[in-house]
Amino acid sequence: MRILMIGDIVGRPGRRAVKEQLQTIRQELNLDMIIANAENAAGGNGITPDIAKDLFNYGVDVMTMGNHVWDKKDIIPYIDKESRIVRPANYPPGTPGSGLGIYNINGIEVAVINLSGRVYLSTLDCPFTMADNLLEKIGDRTKIILVDFHAEATSEKVALGWYLDGKVSLVAGTHTHIQTADERILPEGTAYITDIGMTGPADSVLGVKTDLVLQKFLTQMPVRFEVADGAYQFNAVVVEVNENTGRSLSIERVSNIE
Ligand SMILES: [Fe+2]
Ligand SMILES: [Fe+2]
Repeated sequence: MRILMIGDIVGRPGRRAVKEQLQTIRQELNLDMIIANAENAAGGNGITPDIAKDLFNYGVDVMTMGNHVWDKKDIIPYIDKESRIVRPANYPPGTPGSGLGIYNINGIEVAVINLSGRVYLSTLDCPFTMADNLLEKIGDRTKIILVDFHAEATSEKVALGWYLDGKVSLVAGTHTHIQTADERILPEGTAYITDIGMTGPADSVLGVKTDLVLQKFLTQMPVRFEVADGAYQFNAVVVEVNENTGRSLSIERVSNIE
């Protein structure tokens, strides 16, 4: 089974990248499933039901989220109705939505887990313990388990990769918007990358207009950030997973600028 996971889709340029490229990429890479981190899909902050529907129409099968999940309030009543959106599992009990989704992809069940790091991010429940709880919940239902670890610190991300090696098919980092070049298959068969990167405006600072970010750094005054426009970059990884064992056979980065 071949699965694509797309790094944080940022604003209109990110959505345009998905719209223009996804069908071609799906065919060229012979993909069975497409997952995308969409926490910045709406104007850089959060997601709306309409934008979620657009992304599903472009070919995304499942969306994961992150610290920006609640930035657009319309998502709150929607997330409980839309099982194809997964938010970080380690929010407090009672939070709307779910951190685990199990999907039927051409007759095969695939589990998607979203977790948030807590180093330089909100102090949520422990992502390591939460991962254990979710794996117990999945039980024997499927061995194909894909984890989006939305986190800032490289140490926390690498640590979770090792912690889950052999227990899941993929641990892929998101949130930093910068693609790392450390993709590999860990010894027990888990595909790993510290960060998939960003699908959004190429000429920007993490998706934000460069002059606004510079103004912020230079003046240390409050600045309202806006998503940059112009050319876009598409960042993703493709993993090949053995359907019977859940072990990954390969992980490759996808990165282009249009
Ligand atoms: Fe992000
Ligand atoms: Fe984030």
